[in-house]
Amino acid sequence: MSLIDEIKSRLDIVEIIGESVQLRRSGKNYIGFCPFHHNVRTPAFVVFPDTQTWRCFGACNTGGDIFQFVMRRDGLTFAEALRVLAQRAGIPLEPKTPEAEARERERARLREVLEAAALFYQHQLRQTPEAEPARAYLAARGLAPETIERFGLGYSPSAWHALIDYMLRRGFSMEELQSAGLVVIREDGTAFDRFRGRLMIPIRDPQGHVIGFGARALGGEEPKYLNSPQTLLFDKSAVLFALDLARAEIRRTGIAVIVEGYFDAIMAHQAGFTNVVAALGTSLSEAQLRLLSRGLKRLVLALDADPAGMHAVLRGLASAREAFPETTLELGPRGLIHLSGQLGVDLRVLTLPEGVDPDELIRRDPPAWAQAVEGARPVIAFLLDYLAAQHRLEDPKGKAAFVREIVPILAAIPDPVERDVYIQHAARMARLNERVVLEQVAAHRTVGTRRHVPSGGTPHNVPPRRDMPLPGTGTEAEATLLVMLGLGPDLLPYLNVRFAELGLEPLCEEDFLDSTHRALFRNLTEFGPVEDWPEEETEPQRAGPLLRTLWVELLRRRELLLQGFDPEDERWAEEALRLALWLREQRLKEILEDLQALAESVPDWPQDEFMAKWQALAEELNQAQRFRYRRWMMDDPLSTTARR
Ligand code: UTP
Ligand code: MN
Repeated sequence: MSLIDEIKSRLDIVEIIGESVQLRRSGKNYIGFCPFHHNVRTPAFVVFPDTQTWRCFGACNTGGDIFQFVMRRDGLTFAEALRVLAQRAGIPLEPKTPEAEARERERARLREVLEAAALFYQHQLRQTPEAEPARAYLAARGLAPETIERFGLGYSPSAWHALIDYMLRRGFSMEELQSAGLVVIREDGTAFDRFRGRLMIPIRDPQGHVIGFGARALGGEEPKYLNSPQTLLFDKSAVLFALDLARAEIRRTGIAVIVEGYFDAIMAHQAGFTNVVAALGTSLSEAQLRLLSRGLKRLVLALDADPAGMHAVLRGLASAREAFPETTLELGPRGLIHLSGQLGVDLRVLTLPEGVDPDELIRRDPPAWAQAVEGARPVIAFLLDYLAAQHRLEDPKGKAAFVREIVPILAAIPDPVERDVYIQHAARMARLNERVVLEQVAAHRTVGTRRHVPSGGTPHNVPPRRDMPLPGTGTEAEATLLVMLGLGPDLLPYLNVRFAELGLEPLCEEDFLDSTHRALFRNLTEFGPVEDWPEEETEPQRAGPLLRTLWVELLRRRELLLQGFDPEDERWAEEALRLALWLREQRLKEILEDLQALAESVPDWPQDEFMAKWQALAEELNQAQRFRYRRWMMDDPLSTTARR
């Protein structure tokens, strides 16, 4: 029995839920008002003691086991819920490994070092005569004292050992200063302050801990910005400056704006646009996008107007590719579109006139900035315009080149309706017959063009596998699919495209019944490949060492079954699709059964509401089943797929 099952078997779901929800018995089950959405009319929240699960049939339409309930009710991570419930069940949890503890101690110490340094620099800026030019510089750039305070700006004295002397006196060691990236060690072993005579901008993690610095020159010295080197805490390509201050507003509105520079972000916050973060330099990485992904609805990229700005975004994805070369999204516009599809965000691009920084615009004319953000264009429209401007569309050769470039982009759009709209749009731009573009896109989606990103095409040339039966139980199917998703990060966007084509909702946490599987799935969608999962379990991150351990365990158990697994192989993508559909069917069936039980045991439940819900679910189930039968169970799958 797994730890999770053990805990479940020792706890009573009715008792635990009953502590915060008033439940009344209704037949075998218990019913009450859902604690997760406001409703006083119909009790639509049901606890099923037989299966030890719960479900809300009302607005939130979710359900799960005791873990999911406690996580939602108390806002806990999976690991936290596990700890809480294990304790209640009287099951001792394994202590952390000594290595993990040592690493955590080292990080904590580095945070202390950086915090102390930030305070030192702040003090210098406020108090010392030497910092007068820095104060004047900030005033000239229009920064209010509150802004300087809020961002914790500082000044590094120009002496070679100012910070070193101070920090050693405070009891920090030279090694610690070095690990924090604050000093430079010469070949002869002597050390000096890395940052001297500069304006110091602390860079913080999403939780607000200082992890590094950006240091601006006050005159024309090079480089203009000197940044902290890579350290245990700081990875320039994986941080978003000002995210700690922007998080609340981003969560509230679901909209985030990414700008390029420190001062752009600082000025935006000063003017009250507190959903703005900066990507620190020219490339935007997938890791940065993932920092924002939870709950995000719209992401606005504020770029330089010149083509270099556009290239910068595209190049940004190259860094993601370097990080995990085998599996990552393809570089380029397609990657961008896939990524937004995968994260489920509406990605927009804001361009400002040549030579205008957000910083300047916001300072001069805040409403114009608000308007520019409002008017940011969807990334695909932006890319089409951008590529159209690169080619001479009146010339046949130019047209052909344009089409060659846009076809992969269009083919990557997951939503079929949206894809059609843009195909029409692109055809009009090039003054081409829509069918020409349509055919090319269709060909691109079917032919074996898929190298890194499955394009959603039907692999006519590969017979579907019949030699691998569906695993016997839901949990086994879940585990197998999860391992596939973990080893082939491109599979999820592929599956979601196929689901969308069938009119099914994207694969989601709810499709997995097992709590561990849900937590792992959430980590995969939030952080990508397992190598990218955070080392620590810190809110709001939900990953952590525990889930890594569970992942390794899962991987080991699937080893035999998945021998020869190759995420690039169409047949495995097909297999993943088959499993995903099967899981969705199981979930829908279960909900339908629960619904039936509910209707029987609660006579006052509104009929029309019941029927509508029933029909919608049944229709989705029908879609999934029909497709799966046609593809995998009919005698001649090739002829049936060809007719579709
Ligand atoms: P910019 O050169 O556009 O600077 O670089 P900026 O933000 O407008 O700076 P100000 O307004 O002159 O102060 C954009 C970002 O690129 C990074 C910094 O994060 C900067 O904010 N950068 C730039 C560096 O890291 N090093 C550099 O030498 C230059
Ligand atoms: Mn600027």
